[in-house]
Amino acid sequence: MTEFDSTAGHAGQVRFFNPGPVWVRPQVLAALGGPMLSHRSQAFMDLYGRILDRLPKVFKTAGSANTLATSATGVWEAGLVSCVDGGPVLAITNGAFSEKWAEMSQRLGLETDVLKVEWGKPVLAEDVSKKLAEKKYAAVTVVHNETSTGTISDMPSIAKAVKEGSDALLFVDVVTSLAGVEVEVDAWGIDLAVCGSQKAFALPPGIAMYSISEKALEAAKKKKFRGLYLDLVDVEAFGKKKQNPTTPSLPLLYALDVQLDHILAEGVENRTKRHHAMLAAVEEWAPGAGFTFSAADGAHSPTVSSIVPPADINAEELNKQLKAMKWVTGSGYGKLKATNVRIGHMGDVDVASVKAFLSAHEEAVAELRKKKAGNA
Ligand SMILES: Cc1ncc(COP(=O)(O)O)c(C=O)c1O
Repeated sequence: MTEFDSTAGHAGQVRFFNPGPVWVRPQVLAALGGPMLSHRSQAFMDLYGRILDRLPKVFKTAGSANTLATSATGVWEAGLVSCVDGGPVLAITNGAFSEKWAEMSQRLGLETDVLKVEWGKPVLAEDVSKKLAEKKYAAVTVVHNETSTGTISDMPSIAKAVKEGSDALLFVDVVTSLAGVEVEVDAWGIDLAVCGSQKAFALPPGIAMYSISEKALEAAKKKKFRGLYLDLVDVEAFGKKKQNPTTPSLPLLYALDVQLDHILAEGVENRTKRHHAMLAAVEEWAPGAGFTFSAADGAHSPTVSSIVPPADINAEELNKQLKAMKWVTGSGYGKLKATNVRIGHMGDVDVASVKAFLSAHEEAVAELRKKKAGNA
């Protein structure tokens, strides 16, 4: 493990484990209060230029990365609206967020086929290959790390299946993987990688970061109607001037400027190691404490664990008990709401804080059992 203190002085003390928005370092919160500037001024262009120089390093691309003043969902939509002309789209689903992206494609009127994978199971490259052999697709959408179930898929093999089996654009949601685990945009051949600020990037919510390939931009340029606010060709053109087409979220850009330094100082590889160590802490602890993972073995997410408490413990009561003890955890998501709790171990939190939180789970379980025995 690296000696780098990701918490910048709060090691072992973080008590906030929501799977997004996540705990944010005080240094980042302080940066939000920077002075207002015109977004056409030289001072702004200096700030945005610094961001655009460093952002591609996190995505691991020699190409373009940019920001939009939307949450991540806005860039899902931007990709479909800007680059896909009628479809067909292959939307791969294995949880709530990938299902929502598929629904978005349908709502936009694009011809959409869904490759449905069971919740908690990773997407398998061989299933993707089979589907691509049946039909020619304009774009494929897939979520790298399903936050709803805490399931990570093997993206290099999926990307290889898409690249070798089709010439479809590959759109990947890296919302809870980028800056937490390795994402290799160029090496994997991702055409659009979509990320939000409030997850492993450990910023407040309110902006999205993304990378886009030349191939995706070329497809967009051929499209007649790309809308206006979410037109990625416009965003790219303004990016060349170190600006955004519309008024950007200046406070969040100040925060991103500070956070990019922090992420690159730790190093993407070291961040990946730290996130794997946080998952290992949960995996080592869970069986002894009677908790089980919803995600299949081998597909546990290094950034979020969706776990089922022991049979005599109600997940929602456990959540309430933890809150009463001044800890914040996530509830189960969607159809897992009543049965699971989710621990967001992503961003700048550290292994020692995660371990303290796991001990708090045991105290909370003991407290709930005591209450139950008292009522019996
Ligand atoms: C994997 C994934 N994709 C997309 C989203 C949507 O992000 P936002 O609400 O920031 O638009 C989330 C939010 O939790 C997510 O976890």
